[in-house]
Amino acid sequence: MRKPKWRAATKAALALTGAGALAASMAMILPGTASAGTTLGASAAEKGRYFGTAVAASRLSDGAYTTILNREFNSVTPENEMKIDATEPQQGQFTFTNADRIVNHARSQGMSVRGHTLAWHQQQPGWMQNMSGSALRQAMLNHVTQVATYYRGKIAAWDVVNEAFADGSSGARRDSNLQRTGNDWIEAAFRAARAADPGAKLCYNDYNTDNWTHAKTQAVYNMVRDFKSRGVPIDCVGLQSHFNNDSPYVSNYRTTLSSFAALGVDVQITELDIQNAPANTYRAVVEDCLAVPRCNGITVWGIRDSDSWRSEQSPLLFTSGGAKKAAYDAVLAALNAGGTTPPPTTPPPTTPPPTTPPPTTPPPTTPPPTTPPPSGSCTATVSVNQWPGGFVANVRVTAGSSALNTWATTITLPSGAAVTNAWSANRSGNSGTVRFTNVDYNSQVGAGQTIEFGFQGTGTAGNLSATCA
Ligand code: XIL
Repeated sequence: MRKPKWRAATKAALALTGAGALAASMAMILPGTASAGTTLGASAAEKGRYFGTAVAASRLSDGAYTTILNREFNSVTPENEMKIDATEPQQGQFTFTNADRIVNHARSQGMSVRGHTLAWHQQQPGWMQNMSGSALRQAMLNHVTQVATYYRGKIAAWDVVNEAFADGSSGARRDSNLQRTGNDWIEAAFRAARAADPGAKLCYNDYNTDNWTHAKTQAVYNMVRDFKSRGVPIDCVGLQSHFNNDSPYVSNYRTTLSSFAALGVDVQITELDIQNAPANTYRAVVEDCLAVPRCNGITVWGIRDSDSWRSEQSPLLFTSGGAKKAAYDAVLAALNAGGTTPPPTTPPPTTPPPTTPPPTTPPPTTPPPTTPPPSGSCTATVSVNQWPGGFVANVRVTAGSSALNTWATTITLPSGAAVTNAWSANRSGNSGTVRFTNVDYNSQVGAGQTIEFGFQGTGTAGNLSATCA
């Protein structure tokens, strides 16, 4: 089972003293109860959400900073410390010291962690900037796998891919060394992340995707819809929401949030800051999120104005001296107001459930399957994404004229090829003839319906075929 994402938030709420804690815990039990949380994190938790901030490891020794951090927030995002240049400065040499400082601080305070980010065209180390083609694809997938594996079980949500779409009216992918490895680089990154940490929610994160009418917003929406329809493992969309005069908040923001949510993904506001921090705009953003059941958390991109990457815009909730700004009061009041939100454990009534639940399968070293043999006939097809030395295979299993209650398929690998991990299926064997069987959530396949699973391997797969057994 996946760790309930509310646990950290609940813990934070319960860690409060006195009336705040009582109100928080009562609101958990009695959804809709009028609430009056006194901090951002506790008030968001009462609404089944988190309230987070970007954190810089270098500031954790600043007592004024950590006082506000520990008091107000129940989620953190490392501002730079999990980026590719920070975690893999030399190819194959991973450094987690600074990221670990933030993760350990968060865990000691009962805060959840958003991982940011596994694949991005910016803040790449020099060695990666100089790579291209299949070598870069392989290096990127290895990076995703290594970092997500290292933090497995500690990350609530990963920004797997960041900022992959172009600005402007084209609706196209952004040109980058990663994009030039092939249009499927994004889904390949998501599959590798799912295999490495099946418990983390996997997000696509971008900026200028707030205005529903913008081509970039529509392009990301279409990608997510395509991913959901093809079973690419994506659980959430992050809207950075850096609002300023060039890229202002717009009133159709709520439409954007609800439209993404209707695709069956969570929506998170991941890097919120607003030029000059107008209280009304901050309030509107919070109200929009609270109005959309699957908008399950808000992260501001720093604590005090002096901590901001755009400090000259004074875009945050606390002054450089650590005082609460008018925007803070507006956010807290908005979090405490309303009552339009269902409790955290209740699925949202208006949103269709995800068509592909994240795998609950055990990690790469899966023991032999315990599932019974299949109950009907099926056909299966395999598509392979090969790079020198490794591959990812995607398998589609289609039921025949009668529905399946279980299924099994075998795939014979050429000599020298071996499976390292699989998702959305149990596996027995790793070379020669490998057998894959259903996991709990995809055992039932209606007549003519298709499910997908996948696996990653080393060596050369060649043209694989799958046999329903
Ligand atoms: C920014 C950091 O805040 C800065 O400290 C750093 O110099 C550059 O990156 N979109 C993102 C974030 O996804 O990672 C960026 O963070 C801001 C824009």
